[in-house]
Amino acid sequence: MKILAIETSCDETSASVIENGKKVLSNIISSQIPIHAKYNGVVPELASRAHIQNVNIVIESALKQANIDFDNFANNIDYICCTYGPGLAGSLLVGIMAAKTLSYIYNKPLIPINHIEGHMFSSAIENQTLKPPFLSVVISGGHTELIIVKDYGKYVFLGGTRDDACGEAFDKVAKILGLSYPGGPIIDKLAELGDPKAINFTRPLLKGSWDFSFSGIKTAVLNYSKKVDITDQKVINNICAGFRQAVAETLVYKSFEAVKKYSLESIALGGGVSCNSLIRKMFKDYSKKNNIKIFMPSPVFCTDNATMIAMVAYYKIINKSYNKINNQINPKPSLGLENW
Ligand SMILES: Nc1ncnc2c1ncn2[C@@H]1O[C@H](COP(=O)(O)OP(=O)(O)OP(=O)(O)O)[C@@H](O)[C@H]1O
Ligand SMILES: [Mg+2]
Repeated sequence: MKILAIETSCDETSASVIENGKKVLSNIISSQIPIHAKYNGVVPELASRAHIQNVNIVIESALKQANIDFDNFANNIDYICCTYGPGLAGSLLVGIMAAKTLSYIYNKPLIPINHIEGHMFSSAIENQTLKPPFLSVVISGGHTELIIVKDYGKYVFLGGTRDDACGEAFDKVAKILGLSYPGGPIIDKLAELGDPKAINFTRPLLKGSWDFSFSGIKTAVLNYSKKVDITDQKVINNICAGFRQAVAETLVYKSFEAVKKYSLESIALGGGVSCNSLIRKMFKDYSKKNNIKIFMPSPVFCTDNATMIAMVAYYKIINKSYNKINNQINPKPSLGLENW
């Protein structure tokens, strides 16, 4: 069974073909970082225009890499799926329209997929032993969420961000320090050169709640940076190290409190911030110490990609949780997590 997936929720145009939920035949990602970098964040109008320019090329490349073209499409592709939310309305619309068109022309079922479910199951792309129940830790540009995955399509939402998402905090701190966009990778790199103990930024644990709040750390960085010389590279490196340490400790502390409280045995990370080297190391170390299985995707599957969307479609197909007649799909920018 082959699935073609299309993902255009934010600033990556991506298409992928997977076979039997196991083999990734292609995963093409066209990033718009150079377009948005000068604005220090994603500009929705520019994002949707770039998706329009890229979407056909990206789909064609994904098919080509999977040895499929439009002449033999009908015999090779069994299902089409696309992200329909959450995300930017104009961006989502481009991927949905492309998917609808292919579904109509080739008479293939079209399955709408929630982008966050993609991040939740992204660790399963490379490791098929990931199976519910597990704690999903989604740490991305727009989300910081702890979710118990009881079964495929059966979720218990524990908590989310009250203000800045984790990736957003990395990006905003980078802006404060005059670093480039996106801030996560650059802060991660500079933090390696700094002393994490030099500055003790606040750890926003919000005890008694599973929610997160990262705007306090961001403000602490802003206030600190006004008092010091941020043209001094050593100072910058120490701020990056202190900030990264505070974020990582907060995420690890709350995640392991949750697995303990709900007697879970596995954690799966997802979202762009799971690329972070300290966060990966700390989750690995704590898992070993606490006898918890840890799953994390390779960096290419942490940030937005269509393969994670195809994985969720695969689980929906084998669980018969999709509607065959589905040409009514529209963008849902604020789509929340729903049980199937
Ligand atoms: N090494 C890293 N350390 C910390 N953050 C990182 C790292 N690499 C990427 N990021 C962050 O990941 C974010 C992008 O991740 P992703 O593509 O999953 O988010 P998004 O799709 O924009 O948001 P969402 O999935 O919530 O809609 C950016 O905020 C970026 O700074
Ligand atoms: Mg994402």
